[in-house]
Order: sequence, then structure tokens, then C-alpha cells
Amino acid sequence: MITDESVAFAVDAAVAAFAAASTAADLKLARSAHTGETSLLARLNATLRSVPNDQKAALGKLVGQARGRVNQALAAREGEVLVAEEAAKLGSEAVDVTAVATRWSAGARHPLSLLMEHMSDIFVGMGWEVAEGPELENEWFNFDSLNFDEDHPARAMQDTFFLDPVESHLVLRTHTSPVQIRSLLTRDLPVYVVAPGRVYRTDELDATHTPVFHQLEGIAIDKGLTMAHLRGTLEQLARSLFGDGAQIRLRPNFFPFTEPSAEMDVWQPNAKGGARWVEWGGCGMVNGNVLRAAGIDPDEYQGFAFGMGIERTLQFRNEMNDMRDMVEGDIRFSQQFGMAV
Ligand code: DAH
Repeated sequence: MITDESVAFAVDAAVAAFAAASTAADLKLARSAHTGETSLLARLNATLRSVPNDQKAALGKLVGQARGRVNQALAAREGEVLVAEEAAKLGSEAVDVTAVATRWSAGARHPLSLLMEHMSDIFVGMGWEVAEGPELENEWFNFDSLNFDEDHPARAMQDTFFLDPVESHLVLRTHTSPVQIRSLLTRDLPVYVVAPGRVYRTDELDATHTPVFHQLEGIAIDKGLTMAHLRGTLEQLARSLFGDGAQIRLRPNFFPFTEPSAEMDVWQPNAKGGARWVEWGGCGMVNGNVLRAAGIDPDEYQGFAFGMGIERTLQFRNEMNDMRDMVEGDIRFSQQFGMAV
């Protein structure tokens, strides 16, 4: 029934609901509840049709004014909510241009990685490929295929990390030379490959030894390769790394996988204390037994191989006293080198 009370009740309920709505979504719900077709005011308005004619004007005015007030309250609240929501959005998106920025200091690449890549690049420049092999290696690849005797001292427990159980015949590779065989088994001849990588021996850590270190291996197998090619290749590497005045010197030595074998020294023209010869690595002509292990006929193909330590190269090339600096992981050490060695 349309009375002052029922109309006032509807208006108060609507105004209270609008005031309580603090978001545009809440306000929309309140609007449909208090002004929609099923709202109390709409229903009171609908009963106007059935009131006696003499009351129609007065009651119509009462309901009409009430609807006017409700719509006014709604419009006012809509304005407030809009302003509040915009302010909240602006606040959350504000950028404090005076705030101190979070700075991530750039890391540094390790000089050993840089030197390995640099040396590999020199070979890529000569048309060679870069290969990799696993650090957890089969004893056969690490020793047997490379012509090591059953009782070669390198196979002893005190020199090499063997994995349990011993019958698994797995070792942490002691050199990168097993990549020689892996490359020969997976590639067509001729093969010109360098293999940089990590190797393991049971050495104690001191100024010139680390039980985990890196080597660069090289193998070239083709028709008619001689020691002159080996020498020329190593001289090219030496000149690229140590300057134009660098030279190579070979001294007879023994390795099971090369025959003849040589110890290789490099003449370092720009050494700090004056030019000098430095022991650098091993090399030789690939032993026929190694070629046969890879299914290659040594009468048809020949080649040479070489290997050198990266830590050692970095140490004497860049005048470092203590190899332990290379394994400690202090970023200040790496940062001295920047992005190139
Ligand atoms: N693998 C040898 C070592 O770790 C280094 C070496 C010597 C590699 C002679 C070669 C080579 O390829 O021909 O001491």
C-alpha cells in the first residue's frame, strides 16, 4: 500500500544500499535491487493504477518524488564511486621516478670458458669442427680404444676416479682423448675435430693442480697427413694465442695412442719475465691401433692428435700464480677478464 511510511522505507533502504556500495559493480547490484522492476518502489508505483481516482494525484506525486530522490542519490553515488575507483587505479599505477632502482650487477663469464671458446674458434677458423663427449665415460673409450695396456698406471685407482660398481667400467674421463674415438666413430673421413671439455684426476688441489680441470683435444685424420701438418697446426694455434713470435718445439715422449709421440713446448715471446719455453701439451701421429679400434685402415688414412690443459694455458699465458683462483668462483676474479681473454 502506498503510504508515507512505505514510500519513506523504500527510499531509505535504497539510499542506504547505495551508500554501502563502494565499487561500480556493487552499485550496479544495488541499483537493480532498488530501482529495477521488482524493487519496492516499482511495485508501489504499479499499484497507483488501482488507487481511487481522488487519491491518484497525491499518491502519484508521493511516489514520483520518492523515485526522483532515489535516482538522485544513485547518480551522486555513481559519481563518487567513479572518482574513487579512478583514484585507486592511478595510485596503483603510479611510478615513483625518484625511487632507487633495483640494480642487478652483471655477472662475468669464467676465463676458462672464454679461453676454451677462443681456442676452439681458432680451429673453426681453419675449417675444423668442435665436438663434445661425456664426462662420465666408458673405460673402453677412455683407455682401451686408445691403446692403453691392461696394467697401464693411469688405470690405477689412485690416479683415476672409477665408478661403483667397478664392473660398470665407468670412469670420470681422465682426458679429452676419448672424444678422438667418438668423433671417428660418428663422422665420415676426413675428420678435423677439436674437443674442449672437463676432465678428472685424483690430484690434490694446489697452486698448479686441480682434480677437475679442462683440456682441448684435437684430432685430424686424412690421407697423407704428416708431422709437418701437426707442427704447422700447432704453430698456427701458438701464434694466435701468444703473438706472431710464438714457436713450437717437439720433444720425443710416449703416449699409448700416438706413435711417434711428442711433448710440445711453446716459445712465449711476450712473457712478463722475458721470452721463454713453456711445456704445453702432448701430441703425435695417431697410433694405427687407435685407427683400427675406430674401424679405419691405417694404410689408407693417417693423422695427428694433440691435447693441452686449459688451466695451465691460462696460467702461463695470463701470468697467474695460483690455479686455485680459477676454481674458487669469486666473481671479482672473472670480472678482470671482461668478455675476452
Ligand atoms: N691425453 C693426454 C693427457 O691427458 C694428452 C695428449 C697427448 C693428447 C698426446 C693427445 C696426444 O691427443 O696426441 O695427458
